[in-house]
Amino acid sequence: MFERRIAVIGTGYVGLTTGACLAALGHTVVCADVDAAKMERLRVGAVDILEPGLADLVSEGIASGRLRFVLDAVSAVRGATEGSGAAEVVFLCLPTPMDPSGRADLFALHSVVRQIRKQLDPGTVLVNKSTAPVGTVASIHTLLGRDDVPVVSNPEFLREGSAVRDFMHPDRIVVGCDTPYGAERVSALYARFGAPTVLTDAASAEMVKYAANCFLAMKLSYVNALAELCEHLGANIGDVTEGIGYDHRIGQAYLKPGPGWGGSCLPKDALAMLRVAESAGCAFDLLRATIATNDRQKERVVDKIRMAVTGSRSGSLAGVRLGLLGLTFKAGTGDLRDSPALGVAALLRRAGAELVGYDPAVAVPPAGATTPALADVRVVDDPVRVAPGARALVLLTEWPEFRALDWASLAGAVSERVVVDTRNLLDVDVLRRAGFTVHSLGRR
Ligand code: UGA
Repeated sequence: MFERRIAVIGTGYVGLTTGACLAALGHTVVCADVDAAKMERLRVGAVDILEPGLADLVSEGIASGRLRFVLDAVSAVRGATEGSGAAEVVFLCLPTPMDPSGRADLFALHSVVRQIRKQLDPGTVLVNKSTAPVGTVASIHTLLGRDDVPVVSNPEFLREGSAVRDFMHPDRIVVGCDTPYGAERVSALYARFGAPTVLTDAASAEMVKYAANCFLAMKLSYVNALAELCEHLGANIGDVTEGIGYDHRIGQAYLKPGPGWGGSCLPKDALAMLRVAESAGCAFDLLRATIATNDRQKERVVDKIRMAVTGSRSGSLAGVRLGLLGLTFKAGTGDLRDSPALGVAALLRRAGAELVGYDPAVAVPPAGATTPALADVRVVDDPVRVAPGARALVLLTEWPEFRALDWASLAGAVSERVVVDTRNLLDVDVLRRAGFTVHSLGRR
């Protein structure tokens, strides 16, 4: 394998994972990010995000001299230190946030391309890993104004909470480029994984990323809608998904009902794809319904809580104290972005409920500090503290440790023994023995 000099621009969870893993594979990597405080921390190996194995790889990369952190994209591209040589491959791993219309905002991506366009040596390969709509690689190529620098789309399929594992054990590699040279150089970086590699044009590679995330979103909206129907018909969603999942065309993965799909990727990408489809004159009703079903899922969870607590669909939640278990968008991450748990919390708060919440990955904000994402919830540092006075305990994120809570002692602290399990995680028999009435999704 050739060891390359690589620059990674942007050190979010995709950029940092990419940089650290490529350094672990033997390449020399310089990561750049405009966040000076974060770069200071990374230089001493301090990783802010909860990502198993990442901090170790960063420390090992720094110790071996193969992983460095700088503040500006130009130094990363030119080589961080005197004589270290310019990058041969440059990865763009930049945020593409949602603009007010729901489209991906390419400002950060394009401004980095403007900064580095004259700094790239001929033959350098510029790789876009940021999730960006079809046509972005073409726009980068135009902005670059150079025919001696191939531009490649190489979408990432990393899940938060298992990003390092996903990088090192990919299901597939997708490389989109209009020149064989660019495609070969990028696919060679992943050759040792032996994963199926799809070599295609840039537009198709860009489409793969959106198509994958939207398909996953569709699968989950389908399961959540199916769970609702199961409740009406007296069927059990767990048995139904197991039964369909053995069909290899469907598969068992990604079939768990919940309070909706969230995080920094699926909601943003689904809406961006819908906007792109609209601009192209395609109705894409299926995707529209996928998003609408997800929005409704949070309301459905609130209805379920209302029913569990007041016994009526129109009962008031004003002044009702609820204990929330889980705040992050899924277990295994500290990420609160677009968390369905917080979406449900916002609706409950609007209905007048008083919320006390615990999450193993969320620290109690310092006294007096305002954390906008947590505005609706008083965060506590122990799951036991959500219980006193609670009219119901509501499990919103599937942290496995919630199964092992001391439910008998929680039963002694709550004001009413009611649990709403929106992830179907808990052992119903254990809870019933502790005296709880349990409400879950898609079960009789
Ligand atoms: C997602 C994709 O899974 C990755 O392949 C992709 O690379 C990434 O987005 C991205 O675009 O960067 P991630 O955002 O980490 O990864 O989250 P997922 O694990 O996909 O979960 C998304 C949401 O679906 C969460 O709210 C989760 O709780 C929910 N979910 C997932 C369910 O409700 N049920 C399931 O069975 C699975």
